Amino acid sequence: MPDSPVPRLRRYLVCEPRHFAVQYAINPWMHPDTRVDVDLAQEQWRSLIDAYRSHGHAVDAVEPVPGLPDMVFAANSAVVVEGRVFGSLFHAPERRPESTHYDLWFKKAGYEVHHPRSISEGEGDFVPVGRHVLAGTGFRTTREAHREAQEFFGVPVISLTLVDPYFYHLDTALFVLEEDGEGGGNVCYYPEAFSPGSRAVLERLYPDAVLATRQDAMSWGLNSVSDGRHVFIAPQAEALAARFDAHGYVPVPVDLSEFHKAGGGIKCCTQEIRS
Ligand code: ARG
Repeated sequence: MPDSPVPRLRRYLVCEPRHFAVQYAINPWMHPDTRVDVDLAQEQWRSLIDAYRSHGHAVDAVEPVPGLPDMVFAANSAVVVEGRVFGSLFHAPERRPESTHYDLWFKKAGYEVHHPRSISEGEGDFVPVGRHVLAGTGFRTTREAHREAQEFFGVPVISLTLVDPYFYHLDTALFVLEEDGEGGGNVCYYPEAFSPGSRAVLERLYPDAVLATRQDAMSWGLNSVSDGRHVFIAPQAEALAARFDAHGYVPVPVDLSEFHKAGGGIKCCTQEIRS
């Protein structure tokens, strides 16, 4: 068994699901006639925050706004690398106003926010790992935004094409197990969510990646958050979680089933502020 990986303490930004609902359909998981149990959603969301805090992570919160039911998905509003904030420009008109509220939070916290000129959905599609930022396109964030992010951060941005509408954001098909490390970090992903060329890129970059099945991905197993040791993961993705044990990671199950109805999970509810 390899040495146990060491956790790194993180700072996460979240938004309470006080006004969470499924009112429109902008991905295949959403059906506007679905009833959401807001009390259960709040309870589930709190268990995620408790899990982060009890593992030593700092959690900041943006105040939720009535009429913005997807605002709980904090990951989509920005991607922060080395304290620099690349904001969002949502694909769906329904979500566009969310950006202003997150931008305001960042400004108050002393950050400048770059406003992307092209569709860009924050950490939903931008995944910093090692020396790169992996970037998804195909459904939401555009290639133009990838170029803009590379110019802004001065970090190589690697475009990956998503091909399955169920995995419309990169963070539904891939997550970072370990950010740094010798080989420049490691990831876990579902290969079939990517075009053949993008799959080949991932194979070259991460020969030791943990490969997931469609079942793992449909169970929200790839919408996980890792601190380098603990993997906060959907209990529905039990089979995938069991495989992390062998790599020395500790799975921490957190059930966000109410949010799956909106096409979101643990990572979608979590933005990392990287200083
Ligand atoms: N209903 C939201 C949407 O379709 C869910 C966003 C999920 N967020 C994520 N990071 N994948 O935009």
